[in-house]
Amino acid sequence: MTTALTLSGSIRKGSHNEHLQALVGERLKAAGVEVEAISLKDFEMPVFNEDLEPDNVPKSAVALAKLFTSHDIVFIATPEYNGGLPPLLVNTITWLSRVEPWPFAHAVFGVGGVSSGKYGTIWAQSHLRDSLTKIGTLVVPTLLGIGPSSTAFTEDGKIAEKPIEKKMDRMVAELTHFSRGGI
Ligand SMILES: Cc1cc2nc3c(=O)[nH]c(=O)nc-3n(C[C@H](O)[C@H](O)[C@H](O)COP(=O)(O)O)c2cc1C
Repeated sequence: MTTALTLSGSIRKGSHNEHLQALVGERLKAAGVEVEAISLKDFEMPVFNEDLEPDNVPKSAVALAKLFTSHDIVFIATPEYNGGLPPLLVNTITWLSRVEPWPFAHAVFGVGGVSSGKYGTIWAQSHLRDSLTKIGTLVVPTLLGIGPSSTAFTEDGKIAEKPIEKKMDRMVAELTHFSRGGI
């Protein structure tokens, strides 16, 4: 069975990105994928500093890297901070990029995000895709940018706009279609 790992670059209570993480998880499950949803709250890491290597690499970085390589799909929902990525995500990716075996070459990745601005994390997603691609990750072409968050969801938490729902379906189709097997 195809498996997916989902995570969010925001861990605050009521995070819109955690909500998007859950919605994408539901869609993946409906497509027959086994989904493991994690919170980066459970993978605390100090701010990256090369002086911490090799003796003080956080166990959580090694554990998260294992999860990246043991799933076929990784979906990351990212907020946008100051037109870029939140420090939590940058720090997490930085630590993981130092772990062996390389945790970015196995799964196929999907990137999405919700922001309060109307451009819906367009810059954050661009940074994330660019960075992941530069380190050898296969990221599916559909980017799931959603904003403004104030009107993005219905009262019962569903996606408010049909075109966004269609985009979500397209991303799920891409994620389940591409597989990198056991490279
Ligand atoms: C430090 C900081 C910078 C932000 N910068 C942006 C930004 O550049 N663009 C944007 O649309 N929203 C920006 N926001 C607002 C976020 O989109 C909003 O807080 C969003 O709800 C964060 O995602 P979350 O709900 O998953 O935590 C910023 C918020 C913070 C705290």
